[in-house]
Amino acid sequence: MSEDRLITSTLTNSDNDIEVSLRPKTLEDFIGQTKVKENLRIFIQSAKKRGQALDHVLLYGPPGLGKTTLANIIANELDVSFKITSGPAIDRAGDLAAILTNLADSDVMFIDEIHRLNRTVEEILYPAMEDFALDLVLGKGPSANNVRIDLPPFTLVAATTRAGMLTGPLRDRFGIVLRFEVYSVVELAQIVENSAVKLGVEIESSASVEIAKRSRGTPRIANRLLKRVRDFAVVKGDGRVNYKDAAFALSAMEIDELGLDSIDIKMLKGMIELFGGGPVGLDTISASINEDSITIEDVYEPYLIQLGFITRTPKGRIALPLAYKHLGYAVPKKLDYLVLQSLKGEEVSEEE
Ligand SMILES: Nc1ncnc2c1ncn2[C@@H]1O[C@H](COP(=O)(O)OP(=O)(O)OP(=O)(O)O)[C@@H](O)[C@H]1O
Ligand SMILES: [Mg+2]
Repeated sequence: MSEDRLITSTLTNSDNDIEVSLRPKTLEDFIGQTKVKENLRIFIQSAKKRGQALDHVLLYGPPGLGKTTLANIIANELDVSFKITSGPAIDRAGDLAAILTNLADSDVMFIDEIHRLNRTVEEILYPAMEDFALDLVLGKGPSANNVRIDLPPFTLVAATTRAGMLTGPLRDRFGIVLRFEVYSVVELAQIVENSAVKLGVEIESSASVEIAKRSRGTPRIANRLLKRVRDFAVVKGDGRVNYKDAAFALSAMEIDELGLDSIDIKMLKGMIELFGGGPVGLDTISASINEDSITIEDVYEPYLIQLGFITRTPKGRIALPLAYKHLGYAVPKKLDYLVLQSLKGEEVSEEE
């Protein structure tokens, strides 16, 4: 379902072509994620100075925040080749062995969606990561042979939207674990400006900011909205994107001034109208908007939480005062501010 949404943060077919061309190639051009970048820059420099492979890197965070992009950049900055695969693509131990034995010294192997790796393959990965060796069993039954194949030292870069689904032993084998955060409006506006240059689109900075505000903290959405807004500007005007074009196009696409679409609104209204604002369980929300709970957790909630619209508590999700206000509801007195304060800190008490 979320595939059809303009503001879905997951990759859609129409993104594919353009995403590759819009990807920044160096750490320098990678906007935002300052902490991640600062750490990585040091680790990369150190590995290069030592002439050794970079430690294995785990990148995790919601879709569309730049994990694949950064994995590419890591290989680029290390000046090594980049081999790419994904958890679901590696069916059998032999598939993994084939990729690993083709690596050159210090190469980067990228495994996307590593949480979807099957357990047999995962166990082959352990010695590969730790000792740069493959332990394979050749043949079957009593004549089976254990063989150990040495691998060149390499860097495994893995990405996941669901770090919680990795097994402990796998997670522990990554020397560098980096968490992606949603982007600020200023950062997204910069990304929109850079993408506009690459696409050959002229855009006013007020229009970039407007797109940024409605992109849910997600570069993938910002780039997608830029393309749609460009189309509107081309058809309706002189092709140069100004603030009016951007605001008009975004409203026409039913994306509100905070980047919420009809499904977000439905979810929030449901929580407020049907469940008294919560706490309401994930499965209940899932059933009420007909969307699977993993998508809700990965795609919808991070942004609603960032906005301060909902919070996760052990008892379920609670709609916060800002959500009531945004949707034009009176904030009920019964909202337990003390509980909320302890969950959300200062932000909530300011809203009283
Ligand atoms: N920091 C950034 N600066 C500039 N552009 C970015 C940045 N992060 C992401 N992008 C843009 O957003 C698009 C999506 O990023 P990417 O594919 O790397 O996300 P992802 O985290 O791998 O998503 P998924 O979880 O769906 O695989 C890229 O095409 C890239 O152009
Ligand atoms: Mg990716």
